[in-house]
Amino acid sequence: MAFENLLTETKGRIRYITINRESKLNALNKATLAELHTAFTDAFASPEVGGIIITGAGPKAFIAGADISEFVGLGTDGGRELATLGHTRVFDVIANGSKPVIAAVNGFALGGGLEMAMACHIRIASDNAKLGLPEATLGIIPGYGGTQRLTQLVGRGKALEMIMTADMIPAADAYQFGLVNYVVSPEELIPKAEELLNKILKRAPLALAAAIAAVNAATRSDVNGFETEIIEFAKCTGTDDFKEGVAAFLEKRPAEFKGK
Ligand code: COA
Repeated sequence: MAFENLLTETKGRIRYITINRESKLNALNKATLAELHTAFTDAFASPEVGGIIITGAGPKAFIAGADISEFVGLGTDGGRELATLGHTRVFDVIANGSKPVIAAVNGFALGGGLEMAMACHIRIASDNAKLGLPEATLGIIPGYGGTQRLTQLVGRGKALEMIMTADMIPAADAYQFGLVNYVVSPEELIPKAEELLNKILKRAPLALAAAIAAVNAATRSDVNGFETEIIEFAKCTGTDDFKEGVAAFLEKRPAEFKGK
């Protein structure tokens, strides 16, 4: 699949998606968002893909936010449409995806860039990364889920501090606040993401999808997460992989999961 603003590659069961607008620090313009929708939808639907690593091209930025040049002339209706489309076509698609997505945060993750990282299931940052939601400096607030996902990850007080000061924080602070799972050197970033994802990909694929759905339910007010857990648990018990996992344990051999 060829894109103008993304590079995609599949190695083993990992699909790599790289935002490829290095000269604009990988800022998310509308064309890139449309391509991200296609790239993630395809990755979730492709049987050969077990999980996804997303990163930014170049050594400087993961994503430096929404493309500010496209904000010119935006009014209330346009703003509502931009935010709604971002949520429904990209950020919620990733967060609710059926396969694990790891953000390899290789530099600036600002605004929509941090929102992208937070929509992913796991975040690993390089030690030179800087993370923040600077929207208030532009007269707006985060519009791609940032107010909600940052609050869920770091709590209300720290989220309000970050959003209202608009400060960027270093990766070490992001780790301390629980915003990223690991901080590693730039050279170790992709290997660490691969190591973690390859470990995850040894587990039963349908159990991974169920885990994402059930854990995500904890962050929603429109569903009862405990009920979601019961439903997802029951779904797992109806799979061939569950039978295989139990048989493999009892027969003292590694399980061979098929995602069925
Ligand atoms: N939207 C559009 N273009 C952006 C961008 C964004 N969010 N972030 C960076 N760019 C562009 C710059 O305009 C510049 O383009 P140019 O060379 O054509 O002038 C290029 O990327 C390099 O950025 P530059 O600002 O020169 O790099 P820097 O090292 O001096 O600063 C940042 C890096 C990240 C601190 C700075 O680019 C910045 O503050 N970006 C905006 C961050 C932001 O507010 N994001 C939230 C948007 S809602």
